[in-house]
Formats: sequence, C-alpha cells, structure tokens
Amino acid sequence: MGETVERPPVWLMRQAGRILPQYRALRAKLSGFKELVETPHLAAEVTIQPVDELDVDAAIIFSDILVIPEAMGLTYELIEKVGPRFPRTIQSARDIDALIDGSAAAEQLGYVYDALDITKKELDNRIPLIGFCGAPWTILCYMIEGGGSKTFSKARRFLYQEPQLAHRLLEKITNSSIAYLKLKARHGADLIQIFDSWAGILPADQYELFALPYIRKICDAIDEVPKTVFAKGAWASLGELNKLNCQVIGLDWNIKADYARSILGPERVVQGNLDPCLLYAQAAEVETKTKAMIRAFDSKHIVNLGHGVYPDTPLDNVKVFVNTVKSFNYSEFSVKVSENE
Ligand code: CP3
Repeated sequence: MGETVERPPVWLMRQAGRILPQYRALRAKLSGFKELVETPHLAAEVTIQPVDELDVDAAIIFSDILVIPEAMGLTYELIEKVGPRFPRTIQSARDIDALIDGSAAAEQLGYVYDALDITKKELDNRIPLIGFCGAPWTILCYMIEGGGSKTFSKARRFLYQEPQLAHRLLEKITNSSIAYLKLKARHGADLIQIFDSWAGILPADQYELFALPYIRKICDAIDEVPKTVFAKGAWASLGELNKLNCQVIGLDWNIKADYARSILGPERVVQGNLDPCLLYAQAAEVETKTKAMIRAFDSKHIVNLGHGVYPDTPLDNVKVFVNTVKSFNYSEFSVKVSENE
C-alpha cells in the first residue's frame, strides 16, 4: 500500500515447492503435483511450509496458473522433468466457442477456495496471503502451444494469423480470471498477483495490443484487494504498465533499479528483482547484493527475486537472503548516506 516501513517486506516467487525438503517428502507420497493442488488441506500445508521454515512476510497459495485453462475445458498434466502438457489445445474458432468462461469456469475451482479458507484460518492473520492468476497472454500461450516452449512460436504465429480469434480467446480468459480473482479475494486472498511470465517474448506493439489491455481489464475489475502485476521481460512497456490501476509493479532481474525508478517514479511500489541464480553464490555475496538492491530501490519496495526460485537452490542461501532483508533497517541506511554526504 506504499506505507512507510522500517524495512522492506520479503517473500519469494515459488517459495512453496521443491526448495523445501518437507515439500519433497510430502510430494513423494502422492500421485503427483495435481493431487497436491487439488487437495485443499495439503495445498494449505505446503503454502505454510515456507512461512514456518523461512519466516517470509507473505504466503502465496499453493496452486498453478494452469487451473484456469483446465476450468475452461482444457485439462493439463504435469509431466516429471518435462513440465505442463495439454492433451487438447486451441486451434480454431470452434475450440474457442466450446470453452466455458466467466463465473461458470471460476466456480469449478472449489478446491482453490477451500485451500484459501484453510490457509487463512491456519495463518491466523500472522502474515498476508497472496492469491494469483496467469495473465491472459501467458495463459493463451499454454492453451495454443499445449505446453512449455522456448519460443512459443505457435502462440505468436496465432496473433498474426488469427488476430480476431486471439482477442476472442483473450476475452474469455480475462472474464474467467476476473471471476476467479473475485472469488479468491472473497476467500481471504489479501493481495493478488498477475503473472505474465511470457510477456518478454512479444514485441512492444503486440504486447500493448494483445496483453496489456486484458491486464488492464482485470486490474480495473478487481477493487477488493491490492494488485501486483509481474510482466517478465516487458521492460519496453514499463511506462504503460505504470499507468495500470494496480499498487505494485513486479520487476525481473534484467531491469536496473535506477532505470525502473526513472520510469516509475519514487512513489510506485515495486517488487523484485534479484537474479534467482545469485542464490547459488557464496553467502557473503548474497548478503552484499541483497543490501545493494534494497538501497538502489530506496523504499516503496517489496523484496523478491526477479522470477521464481530455482528448485535446486541451496536452502541455506535462501535463508541468508530472507534474513538479510529482515535485519535491514532503512533508518540506518539513511544515516550512512548523510554521513557520506
Ligand atoms: O509461488 C509459489 O510458491 C506458489 C505456487 C506456484 C506454482 N506455480 C507451483 C508450481 C505459482 C505461483 C505458479 C505459477 C506458474 N505456473 C507460472 C507463473 C510463474 C512463473 O514461474 O513464471 C507458470 C508459467 C506456471 C506453469 C508451470 N507450472 C510450469 C512451467 C511448471 C513446471 C516447471 C517446474 O517448475 O517443474 C509448473 C509446475 C509447478 N507449479 C511446480 C510448482 C511447485 C512444480 C511441481 C512439482 O514437481 O512439484
């Protein structure tokens, strides 16, 4: 909310997951990732694991952005060491017309709302709970491509060959996401984050035509809770992102703090943006670079990595990162600055 704080808050994208031994232990007992996502008390348990283990300042509900395409009619699988896969994809107008959307789609996701209810109760207001969805463009990528891809060239080709259909599909994803986020807020999400993981593969003109307008629609429709927009790689559109009706702009590690501040201004709350790979370095470097980043953003900052934490990151370094932030104090920093002047 942009309030003055003694130190910035800290959490990590993908904090609930394979970096934690307790996650891996629980996951090994189950049939797969989807069982974890779809069983509310287990999803709540892994949501809280990083809160207890790392003492982060926020929990993010354990789920996936791919539950929305599934609720709309395209089931997904998560294949070990490969990633997500959609047996059926979107190829034609008929496929788009057959998709369920809006509240009818969102209402299929009862297990997410139950997981939020349980998590909220177990957190007992210790820290806020973050809800999330994928941005319409990123969801379209998976629906057309059928899985992960280095280039998402099928999805990108679709924008050039079938622009009208792309807008129809984006519209349906947007309606579903709005209904979904409203239900998440009703079930206790204190803040929501929109993940546009594949923002950076579009040229700026297409980003502003096929991606941003739908994020704008979501931001304008959700007034229940504050919103974070994380558009990875969309630095060319940072000025446009800054006009969105949202409280926080998430930044990836390619963006320099002073560049971001020059576009966003000193008052905009930003989130990010350490290189996730830094956490493989020596602990002393993790500490130095974390402090340098906090100073560079100079308040109105939620500390995070520039993208999700990598699954094989040493847990000790994740703790160094979190503890460095928790022991930081803006007032000591400003004293040092004035001493140097
Ligand atoms: O941040 C959190 O801790 C909350 C949980 C969360 C997951 N996925 C859990 C997950 C969140 C916020 C997501 C979002 C998500 N999912 C995104 C957007 C963010 C980003 O990283 O860009 C995307 C693109 C997806 C799609 C997705 N889900 C992929 C590409 C994969 C496979 C890659 C991988 O890490 O194995 C998933 C699976 C997934 N989602 C896992 C987790 C913990 C791994 C599942 C497992 O093997 O246990």
